[in-house]
Amino acid sequence: MITRTPSHSTSWYQCGRAAAARTVADGVCWAEPSDRGAHHVGTTSEDRGLAVSRPTVSSVREHYDGVLSPHYSRLLGDFDAKVAEQQALLERLGVRAGRPGAMAVDLGCGSGVHSIALTRLGFRVLAVDFCRPLLAELRERALRLPIDTVAGDVRDMETLVPPGAEAVVCMGDTLSHLEREADLPRLFAGVATRLVAGGCFVLSFRDLGAELRDLDRFLPLHASDDVIMACMLEYEAHTVKVHDLIWVREQEGWTFRKGVYRKLRLTADVVAAHLTSAGFAVEGHGALGGMVALRAVLAGPPSS
Ligand SMILES: C[S@@+](CC[C@H](N)C(=O)[O-])C[C@H]1O[C@@H](n2cnc3c(N)ncnc32)[C@H](O)[C@@H]1O
Repeated sequence: MITRTPSHSTSWYQCGRAAAARTVADGVCWAEPSDRGAHHVGTTSEDRGLAVSRPTVSSVREHYDGVLSPHYSRLLGDFDAKVAEQQALLERLGVRAGRPGAMAVDLGCGSGVHSIALTRLGFRVLAVDFCRPLLAELRERALRLPIDTVAGDVRDMETLVPPGAEAVVCMGDTLSHLEREADLPRLFAGVATRLVAGGCFVLSFRDLGAELRDLDRFLPLHASDDVIMACMLEYEAHTVKVHDLIWVREQEGWTFRKGVYRKLRLTADVVAAHLTSAGFAVEGHGALGGMVALRAVLAGPPSS
């Protein structure tokens, strides 16, 4: 039996617990016995016919392209409210265009919350992400706004982004999606070459230093009439495996998609230390609903 769930939206950011409880209580069928329509990212298929499935961990890029991107923006709740909230956060962190049309770069921009907020703070924006479906969504949301998009890996700053940015932001946990901690120095060095002297680099990410245990690792992300999302966290020494589970109501019934990728377990101290080594003065950081926000100013010589 399929029972409709009330339309509401929760996210890991807001950490609402009610959604999952309601999902189970309403008796939603999430997997047909045949697993018809299931989409398993990272499952090999050489053994087709033997019904053997070997789930593997996807890269972040595969996970966003294959599983998460069609549903990502639902995790943000009301999109316009999120833009307003994040604009206020950027303002608190001192991000404001010094002159009209100054350039800001939004690294790992997703569907564009911060890019849009930055235009409201007076910037023209270069929005970078390797997930093309999310970039396409951003372009649709920002039709008449001064935002250019570029598809690529944020670790390749120097080939993707011209110098002269007044501000660079990397918000909403993009940083912990990097493959390894050793990517931080490369990214931060790249940012330093693209910022003007005195330009600011603002980051927010989830502090995954502390470990959730047992049932606390199961998190409801979103529940509405046609999509239900949850995730399960599996902690490793330096990373967390994020298992995403997504049920989508389609014409023929509910289909189930799942995928797993790794996030880095970053802490404010570790990120601040890498920023300092890359020539930034870290001015302060504050937590915001389990997230860490850092503002860093380029203290080194001017960019070329
Ligand atoms: C958690 S989402 C955050 C999106 C957006 N900043 C927000 O707050 O809504 C992470 C985003 O970073 C992108 N991403 C992760 N690693 C990346 C990389 N190495 N290069 C480019 N994009 C990356 C993903 O495709 C995704 O859009």
